[in-house]
Amino acid sequence: MMMENNSVLITGGSSGIGQALAVKLASEGCRVLVCGRNRDMLRKTRELAGGKISFVVADLSTAGGRNAIVDAVVAQNRGLDILINNAGVQYEMDFCTENSPPVLSERIENEVNINFIAPIMLTNQLLGQITRPGGRIVNVTSLLALHPKTSAPLYSATKAGFRSFTRSLRRQLTLESIYVVEVVPPLVETAMTRERGRGKITPEQAAVEIVAGLKSGLCEIKVGKSKLVFLLNRIAPRLMARVLAAGK
Ligand SMILES: NC(=O)c1ccc[n+]([C@@H]2O[C@H](COP(=O)([O-])OP(=O)(O)OC[C@H]3O[C@@H](n4cnc5c(N)ncnc54)[C@H](OP(=O)(O)O)[C@@H]3O)[C@@H](O)[C@H]2O)c1
Repeated sequence: MMMENNSVLITGGSSGIGQALAVKLASEGCRVLVCGRNRDMLRKTRELAGGKISFVVADLSTAGGRNAIVDAVVAQNRGLDILINNAGVQYEMDFCTENSPPVLSERIENEVNINFIAPIMLTNQLLGQITRPGGRIVNVTSLLALHPKTSAPLYSATKAGFRSFTRSLRRQLTLESIYVVEVVPPLVETAMTRERGRGKITPEQAAVEIVAGLKSGLCEIKVGKSKLVFLLNRIAPRLMARVLAAGK
């Protein structure tokens, strides 16, 4: 896939992987629109991209927020070549020790909403805008879609669900010549993983690999160590289940 002049929407472009992707894709000549809730951080993304991107402040977890994103895409009047469903949250949850319904309920709803419902609703709303033939829907999942991490049960479940949805959507949209791509990052040094884990790569390294994968036309972009984890998972799935369950 050629990158130049592609119209791209990245959800969660105000930090981490989404921010690095916005900067990288803008440097490749794409017209990038990002969204997030934090206006200052979205301005920062625009600054890092040399002023070459636009943004919309919107909360993906609300219908109003998603409508604002769709309106911004439609207002550009050039369709969408690449939709990148990247925004996500990860909460640690212990259903044994934190058995305090109001606190846990809010996090449960938020995590399912942002990681699973919102990207599916947004994809549905934007499908008519995606270029045919050749448009891309890029869904960012996780290695925890393969096996769950014990301390993040719901995060792992949302990513497993999103991976499953991605695979079915890929088959359905083949007829429309829209390619559905899954990105599986390893541990990346972002706000989400602050003070957790070791051997992390930078968001910029992740962005370089993701864009290279898009250019090569891959339907599953396994970034960095994810390639090795997928391989080991085929050879020794029970071992990988134990390793990922114990993850920090
Ligand atoms: N970091 C890793 O090691 C890793 C590994 C595997 C997969 N991933 C996945 O990669 C994706 C990006 O994660 P990251 O590590 O880059 O995390 P991050 O730095 O925390 O960024 C998360 C992004 O999601 C946005 N977001 C969260 N809630 C939102 C909402 N309600 N509405 C709109 N935007 C919202 C945030 O923007 P605002 O705060 O401005 O709203 C932010 O831009 C996620 O899907 C994550 O699950 C990350």
